[in-house]
Amino acid sequence: VSPDAVPCVVIYDPMVAASLPPKETAQSGMNSLAHSVEALYVPDANRLSDILATEGARALFDGLPGCVERPSDLGARATAMYGGLLGGLLVAMVGIGLHHKICHLLGGRFGLPHGVSNGIILPQVIAFNAPAMPEAIDRLASAIGEHDPSAACFSLAKRLGLPLTLREVGVAEADLAPVVEDIVAGQIPNPRPTDRAAVTDLLHRAWSGELPRSHRGRN
Ligand SMILES: [Fe+2]
Repeated sequence: VSPDAVPCVVIYDPMVAASLPPKETAQSGMNSLAHSVEALYVPDANRLSDILATEGARALFDGLPGCVERPSDLGARATAMYGGLLGGLLVAMVGIGLHHKICHLLGGRFGLPHGVSNGIILPQVIAFNAPAMPEAIDRLASAIGEHDPSAACFSLAKRLGLPLTLREVGVAEADLAPVVEDIVAGQIPNPRPTDRAAVTDLLHRAWSGELPRSHRGRN
């Protein structure tokens, strides 16, 4: 991240966010959640970032439904913002990886809002990486109180009213191939190799809405 893009001051104030519409709240929330989740598997992850990441995910799982279902619930806003704060710190501390690379490509090619692509892609990337990072999945599962974090993220995005598929936001299935090539060519450091077949499967699942395949899931 360029230093020019790093803010000098960030103010987290639930009162200010109380008037943020549910749609934008949900999108921002899934982006924040992705910052914490992704910190669990990027190459620079460490014991301190693991603690912040699991706590950030826990806070966002706890707070986001209330923010969307009761927009003026300042307690829910404060909880979610605390998770967002940790996610922001983690981006600066350990950076971002495969999930954000995919979201940035989708945003650039198809004009998808960052939060929308985050809601669609995060469950799929967790499921994709799960077999290669069982300990991180265990930490995340225990932090959010869910057996299968990918399925839990999918359910959370659904509960928040976010799109769950690339199809429903206007992406043509045939247009996924160049995105796959960009990801493969990018050689992004990732717990599971990003070979063409695996990435193709990931993106087509994100397109169709097929539930994420997880070593803990049913499919
Ligand atoms: Fe992000």
